[in-house]
Amino acid sequence: MNATAVASQGLAGIIAGESAVCSVEQGKLIYRGYEIHDLAENATFEEVAYLLILGDKPTAGQLSAFKKELAEARSLPQDVVNLIKECATAPYTHPMDALRTVVSYLAHFDPDCQDISAEAEVRKAKRLTAQIGTIIGHMQNAIDGRDIVAPDPSLSYAANLLYMMRGEKPTAEEEHIVDVSLILYAEHDFNASTFTGRVIAGTLSDLHGAITGAIAALKGPLHGGANEAAMEMLKEIGTLDNVESFMQQAFATKRKIMGFGHRVYKNGDHRADILHKLGRAYAEKKGGDAVKWFDIGERVQKIMRDEKNILPNVDFPCGMTYFVMGIPVPQYTPIFVASRITGWCAHVIEQHADRKLIRPLSSYTGPTERKWNG
Ligand code: CMC
Repeated sequence: MNATAVASQGLAGIIAGESAVCSVEQGKLIYRGYEIHDLAENATFEEVAYLLILGDKPTAGQLSAFKKELAEARSLPQDVVNLIKECATAPYTHPMDALRTVVSYLAHFDPDCQDISAEAEVRKAKRLTAQIGTIIGHMQNAIDGRDIVAPDPSLSYAANLLYMMRGEKPTAEEEHIVDVSLILYAEHDFNASTFTGRVIAGTLSDLHGAITGAIAALKGPLHGGANEAAMEMLKEIGTLDNVESFMQQAFATKRKIMGFGHRVYKNGDHRADILHKLGRAYAEKKGGDAVKWFDIGERVQKIMRDEKNILPNVDFPCGMTYFVMGIPVPQYTPIFVASRITGWCAHVIEQHADRKLIRPLSSYTGPTERKWNG
């Protein structure tokens, strides 16, 4: 290692490259110049997907052509549908593993698979974005033991995703909540999965390979898997009365509270409040047990803030919101993929244009030099 270089644990605070896709700041989250509250309030997921993949806000004509292309690309070859069924019902599978395998398999059916020109990358990005929603829907159908629900090209990306998973069209409010969650999840600078994708793309390997690696990275509970882990933790707490003792026990054993903390945001995640408000309002209307999960979650939040000064990230409200909507917990991170695929593709396109290998150094901590026969 270069004697003057200083190692940073987990690359914290290191600027590892340049990007025009997204800016993650303490006070703001910006996708290609547009602030996240503005996008969550005024854009749809399809518009944000276009913005990320193609670089600018679409005109009305560009948007309608883009939506048509995405809707037409939703169907999958029969071999791929068969593999989804096999993977989703295999004995030790998690939907993220199945999604990773199927995305890798899809490369074999993509005519642009080996072409890393910008034009081919955009075509593949659109196809993969459309196909991932279908994979999630088919996986859930297979897990539930029902017939495969075919995609409905008349529905928006968010509505079609819910429809394929459940076989029933969502309400306008459910569609809106999932649409906003997809906008919030779509892009986040050099996070672990995006960086993984960029490292793969940096070798000039192909887009499907980069996305397969990114999915594997997103699965972990310190990253995208936190939305599932957060909800599993709330289920473990179970009642409002248990929160205090659960938290004290967690602090005493140094157990991490899932859905809290962030490598970059130290004053809170800009996305969390947006989703929390939508999820709580939905839970209040739904009634029954639904509000209980937000009550428990808010008590956890208060204790974390008061005792540790650590705030929730977007995965915390996401867990509660998807749960009260009846979405199966193991599909939360795959739904994250259905959104982040757009940001990942934007980064792969940028990395391929850069044509620079990513190859850092390590600070060696092994034995000093020794002789094999000495
Ligand atoms: N629960 C309890 N303590 C925490 C938490 C938490 N969720 N997050 C941070 N801390 C403590 C940590 O124990 C450490 O304390 P100490 O200095 O006494 O050892 C201190 O805060 C600094 O934490 P860190 O883990 O060194 O910080 P980091 O920047 O390396 O980690 C993180 C960031 C997101 C991995 C971490 O906060 C964490 O593990 N959170 C829980 C998992 C999670 O919610 N991940 C989602 C991340 S954001 C969205 C996404 O990517 O999907």
